[in-house]
Formats: sequence, C-alpha cells, structure tokens
Amino acid sequence: MKATLAFDVYGTLVDPDGMAEHLARDMGVSSVAFAALWREKQLEYSFRRGLMQNYVSFAVCTADAFEFACRRFRVIVNAERREELMRLYQHLPAFDDAARALESLQDSFRLFAFSNGRSDDVAAVLSNARLRNYFEGIVSVDEVRSFKPNPAVYAHARRATGAWSSSLWLVSSNPFDIIGARSAGLDAAWVRRSDAMSYDPWGIEPTVTVRTLSELPGVLPSEPA
Ligand code: 2OP
Repeated sequence: MKATLAFDVYGTLVDPDGMAEHLARDMGVSSVAFAALWREKQLEYSFRRGLMQNYVSFAVCTADAFEFACRRFRVIVNAERREELMRLYQHLPAFDDAARALESLQDSFRLFAFSNGRSDDVAAVLSNARLRNYFEGIVSVDEVRSFKPNPAVYAHARRATGAWSSSLWLVSSNPFDIIGARSAGLDAAWVRRSDAMSYDPWGIEPTVTVRTLSELPGVLPSEPA
C-alpha cells in the first residue's frame, strides 16, 4: 500500500502572513507585525483551548486572535471590515512550491490535508488556492474537538486516513506540529523554508527536513518500510 502524507495547511500549503497585504489598508506599515502577532495568538489560543478542554472552532481562535491584535496595536476595525477580513482568510495565497510538489507526489502517495481548521473552511481555503483537487480527503481536528499537538488528533489522522498497515507522514512547516506528530508515533517531514525558522531543542527530531515541498519526492519512501 502507498504511504500516506498528511499535509498541514496554514503555514505549510498556504501562507497566513499573506493577510499583511490586506491589512495594509487598515494599518499601513504595521500590517506585517500585526499579521505575525495575529498568527502567533491564533496558535496560542488553540493550544490553550486544547489544554483547557474548552473547544471552539479554529475560526473562533482566529477571530479572537484578531481582536487581541487590534487591542495590542490599538486599531479599530468596524464589524463589516472584520467580516471581510475573515472571508479573506479563506483566500490565503498558496506557497509557490505547493501545486507543483503535490502534482509530483499524487501518483506515488495518498495525499490528505490535515488541519486545525474545520473541514469546510479548509476545503474553501484549498479550493481558493487551487490545491483542493490534489487531496483524497481532508482530516480536521474538529472531528475530535481538540487541537494539534494533542496526541488524540494524530491518532485521529491515522484512523481517518485508514493508514493502518502503511506509513503515515505529517508534512508541516510548524515545529510544534512536527514534534507533536513524532511524539504520537508518526513520521514527519519538516519544511524549513528559511534559516529564520528555528526548531525546538527537545530532542524530538523530524524524520526528514526539506527546504521546499519540491524536495519531498526525492526523500520520502513511497512504500511502507
Ligand atoms: C494547521 O493545522 C497548525 O495552522 C496549522 O493548519
């Protein structure tokens, strides 16, 4: 049986920092720092919600993190514009290497998207980025009402993809996701697109590290070991 690849979505296939371009209209030069804080808080809120066992969808974490960033940057964004920005969050730009890499992987591997986002949000993001058709399916943490890196969500990925007797790989740019997957027994490929990305010194290493998604066909075994 072919090996299964579960691709993280936000930060790996599509770029949340792409929101900075839209935000420039609202806050000018601060938009890059605003987008970075927004993303940082979005993840922090998902971690905290997971620990507290007080689940809300990732879209709510995104909206709450936006509100936090508005408070920190002291910007006022009216309700209509907020709604528009949340809609634009479903139009995040794909990373340049994504489509070509997925195309070259789709014959040798089973491909799934695996995200903190709800399935319908992820489907919209991938469709808008013209990536949806490469995937056999979408696995969402929403189905277990928790977030990465809870080991339950990686176990759910194995169940949902049916990768029982074949290897299951997470592909992600997010070090916390790689460590979560490795800790839960998956193989994991870390996509380190820039030297500025640092890895946590926990001794739980990625199975492989690549610079771009395009390197994956050369380093991943397509059959189970
Ligand atoms: C995702 O699950 C963690 O944002 C990341 O798509």
